[in-house]
Amino acid sequence: MSAFTHLWNQIAPIGRAASGGYLRYALTEPELTLRDWFRSQAARRDMLVTDDGNGNLFAWRGEPWAPGTVLTGSHFDSVPHGGGYDGPLGIVSAFLAADKIDKSRKIAIAAFVEEEGGRFGVPCLGSRLLTGAIAPQQAAALEDRDGVSFGQALGSTPSGAQLDKVKNLKAFVELHVEQGRALDVPVGVASAIWPHGRWRMDFAGVGDHAGTTRMADRHDPMLTFAFTVLAANKEARLTGAHATVGRVQVEPNATNAIPSLVRGWLDARAADTATLDRLVDGVVRKATERAGRDGTTFTISPESVTGEVAFDTALAERLAKTLGDAPILPTGAGHDAGVLSAHIPTAMLFVRNPTGVSHSPAEYAEDADCEAGIEALAKVLEEL
Ligand code: GLV
Ligand code: MN
Ligand code: MN
Ligand code: MN
Repeated sequence: MSAFTHLWNQIAPIGRAASGGYLRYALTEPELTLRDWFRSQAARRDMLVTDDGNGNLFAWRGEPWAPGTVLTGSHFDSVPHGGGYDGPLGIVSAFLAADKIDKSRKIAIAAFVEEEGGRFGVPCLGSRLLTGAIAPQQAAALEDRDGVSFGQALGSTPSGAQLDKVKNLKAFVELHVEQGRALDVPVGVASAIWPHGRWRMDFAGVGDHAGTTRMADRHDPMLTFAFTVLAANKEARLTGAHATVGRVQVEPNATNAIPSLVRGWLDARAADTATLDRLVDGVVRKATERAGRDGTTFTISPESVTGEVAFDTALAERLAKTLGDAPILPTGAGHDAGVLSAHIPTAMLFVRNPTGVSHSPAEYAEDADCEAGIEALAKVLEEL
């Protein structure tokens, strides 16, 4: 059995649901089990583990935050019923790449908390805290679906920005499974992350009886919502952007009642900020017009918006060359690497995903490609 298969089999059952997908929400039992696994892997390699007070874990070869350290790693948390590779592949690969390189090199491995925003709503929460992109009080107050706050889950108010330490790092390299049928060789290098964001949309109407309320008398927010979902899809297709409504709440959520409220989350992404702004503006205009016709109200508020990330081009080209002219490609998925890239030289390696499916139990990568990814990461760590 290869070293990769051996380690992968250790974590594969943790947090796996009957769907075959994963429920590895930040700071819940499966993710805490993965953190214990992280500590034990670090201990086996005589790497000291530190916690930054924001929920992020770091394993160090060399003194913590020593100048010139190269950081790698990713995240353990998943979206609801997500794949097992998105995140954990970057951490498992980091330990195995560390085994391949000269032991005198100063490296560190990160496990960032709440990268998906699957529990507390804001993606890349750990890296945003570490770099000061979100205030500790604001992060502490974010609540999960059961009303538990991030501060409660963490056990304290996060410690917040530590930019002086971050700036000691020579570079951050995140290895990640590719997520959109964009890579047809085992390993590629990232060029950019599309600007993207999440907006909460509230459609309020008048709850009433499904059997007795005349059709002409209704103020049904579900209609405004349905129209808005179609409008977002059309707007995205016209502009080459991506728009998704993947999470909905309905009140009172009864078969025989006209809803009083529909709440839906818009996830919107585009290759550039102007296109993203045009997409969201278009959705707002159409939803507002439609609400006027339905006698409902529409309100929208951003929950997190991330600007365009252009990774260091010279670094990406250098790494692609090191890897034998690996392809360089952009992505529509957000990553902690995007957050760190505002402060230190940052790069990403992508490992082929034959179907391109991600955020789904069907997410997959071949063992041989994962092993090629580990080789590539080891080469890149040596190169840096
Ligand atoms: C995180 O994976 C995201 O981009 O949604
Ligand atoms: Mn993801
Ligand atoms: Mn990820
Ligand atoms: Mn992500």
